[in-house]
Amino acid sequence: MQVILDKLKNELKLSAAELRFLLETEDEAVPARIFREAYRIKLNRVGGKVFFRGIIEFSNRCAKDCFYCGIRKSNKKVVRFRMTEDEIVNTGHWAWRNRYGSIVLQGGEIESPEYAAFVERVITRLKTETGGGLGITLSLGEQTPEVYERWFKAGAHRYLLRIETSNEQLYRQLHPADHSFRRRLECLRTIRNIGYQTGTGVMIGLPGQTVDDMVNDLLFFEREDIDMLGMGPYIIHRDTPLAKLAGEFDREKQFQLGLKMIAAARIYLRDVNIAATTALQALNPEGRELGLQAGANIIMPNITAVAYRPAYQLYEGKPGLNESSGLCRDRLQNRIENIRETIGYDEWGDSKHFFSRTKAIRSE
Ligand code: 5AD
Repeated sequence: MQVILDKLKNELKLSAAELRFLLETEDEAVPARIFREAYRIKLNRVGGKVFFRGIIEFSNRCAKDCFYCGIRKSNKKVVRFRMTEDEIVNTGHWAWRNRYGSIVLQGGEIESPEYAAFVERVITRLKTETGGGLGITLSLGEQTPEVYERWFKAGAHRYLLRIETSNEQLYRQLHPADHSFRRRLECLRTIRNIGYQTGTGVMIGLPGQTVDDMVNDLLFFEREDIDMLGMGPYIIHRDTPLAKLAGEFDREKQFQLGLKMIAAARIYLRDVNIAATTALQALNPEGRELGLQAGANIIMPNITAVAYRPAYQLYEGKPGLNESSGLCRDRLQNRIENIRETIGYDEWGDSKHFFSRTKAIRSE
């Protein structure tokens, strides 16, 4: 541990074996120390400002059938919805008025010309109606390069596509045979080549996932040179096939593992944006604040109309079912002030990593 701490003081890169040690050690003194180091590195590299991305979960229609996800196609208990263009745009305006700086448009995966055009209209309206001011991140799954291109031209500038796990074998166990790890990876690379700030992430503590898999996830993020990370603990949803395999579910263990992965990612990748995800909050009411203190710098408050929230349960116990967007904003502000961080209102809070990597390309 001392070797690791010395390396961190000098901001030297940890080896895979050292990352492994951080994630798996049973020594109770270790996590607090790593969180402290990760926090220090965060302050050095990206600063102590938290950026809000108001997330609009505007559609739960999904063509995918992932074994872990509550809104998978085969879950017939879910009432399917898609917000109208006006509803989405109005929610975006709410974020803008409340000085969120940027929003995330998230939805189940649908690939169709109608859908591509619908999303394009929403992006165009949000951009023009806010004078180009509102930052737009998309989280809409796998699409063709043409569609990614169209949405980028319409004004979206960041895209999140979680690889879910970097272990192709494990990926196959978590998805039906027609879901392709290769295609997902191709999509991620396309997104990056088009010029989006590129985000990915994994679920942490999946059934069948080993500590080595998680270390490899971190190496994967580095190899793919990603700008933004959204990772959260896997949480059971009872109406999914994976629930039957998941066995004992230790919430506290999952939570701690989630925090440790955030800290390890901050230590290892340094200048990327890292979200303290809702899944962390689902396992602990203060999960997001603890995530910030373990190295995260982004929070994605849910700004979807409360009426739609019960139909967007990716996992059980997803928080904020009844919490209006305004209440959520005020509470968060209080909590963030309590941990003595500030909120980057009206700012996009772009990934520093994006600028350093694109500058390197430009000057080559
Ligand atoms: N537990 C935790 N995260 C989940 N997601 C989907 N289902 C679950 C679950 N049961 C995550 C996936 C997806 C994101 C939108 O939600 O990583 O990419």
